[in-house]
Amino acid sequence: MSLSEHLPSDSVVYDVVVVGSCMTDLVSYTPRLPKAGETIHGHKFFIGFGGKGANQCIQAARLGAKSAMVGKVGKDSFGDNYIENFKSNGVSTDYVSQTDEASTGVAPITVNEEVKTIFNPAPAIADLDPEFYKETDVFCCNESEAEILTGIEVCNVASAGKAGSALLEKGCRSVIITLGAEGSVLMSLDKRTPHYIPTKKVKAVDTTGAGDSFVGALAFYMAYYPCMELEEMSRRACDIASVSVQSQGTQVSYPYRAQLPQELF
Ligand SMILES: Nc1ncnc2c1ncn2[C@@H]1O[C@H](COP(=O)(O)OP(=O)(O)O)[C@@H](O)[C@H]1O
Ligand SMILES: *[C@@H]1O[C@H](CO)[C@@H](O)[C@H](O)[C@H]1NC(C)=O
Repeated sequence: MSLSEHLPSDSVVYDVVVVGSCMTDLVSYTPRLPKAGETIHGHKFFIGFGGKGANQCIQAARLGAKSAMVGKVGKDSFGDNYIENFKSNGVSTDYVSQTDEASTGVAPITVNEEVKTIFNPAPAIADLDPEFYKETDVFCCNESEAEILTGIEVCNVASAGKAGSALLEKGCRSVIITLGAEGSVLMSLDKRTPHYIPTKKVKAVDTTGAGDSFVGALAFYMAYYPCMELEEMSRRACDIASVSVQSQGTQVSYPYRAQLPQELF
């Protein structure tokens, strides 16, 4: 798809643009998982907005970034609701379309050369097109994604350093590997020594979507604080993601700027 065909004549410039998925989460809480074919009682159900791309876009928007989503949803009530969700979070939906065919795959599109790119290889595939490593400014993944991509088991800071080196070998310029409660490890072509960035010790209630909160926050800093060291951006993104793990849900747990310490801005 050529993006220029879709550009409205009065085109607006966005500071964070996310190409990715928008998923509706249908979440049931049950005492245990049902066996195949078994029906069991659940005690709670909710429908939430998810999808890695959309999560990241919403976290960036909630921090105040002028954000747009590029993606496709179905021509159905979930799709309608999703578009409303973007609007109520201040995310532009100019590039979110609706289809009446089955769910559609998305392709990464570079919209604006001035918008630096973060690539989040989720879900990771071992034979990822090598161009993705080379074309991305910041390659950001979690432990299991790093392992799939490099074949190196990542379980601590030292092994994250090894996997990070392997990703630099593949052509990445900067690599961030998130390590859950441990925080993250940052490496780049000019600073090959792994730099460990610990996260705040918090009481984690639900870590779903923590990685997306991290990537969304990172996108916010890259767009609004272009002179900030990647290390500092990564530290602040860790702090923001660690807020998101302290309450239940994915997007509902993402903090707004006003709820965060002002020294993060
Ligand atoms: N238990 C936790 N305590 C504090 N921060 C956490 C915790 N889990 C995740 N985080 C924060 O979220 C970031 C991303 O988490 P991670 O689990 O690595 O990503 P993913 O959601 O992709 O698995 C971490 O770098 C950290 O800042
Ligand atoms: C990393 O992200 C993937 C999605 O690509 C997810 O399935 C996996 O559970 C995450 N790994 C960790 C260690 O959190």
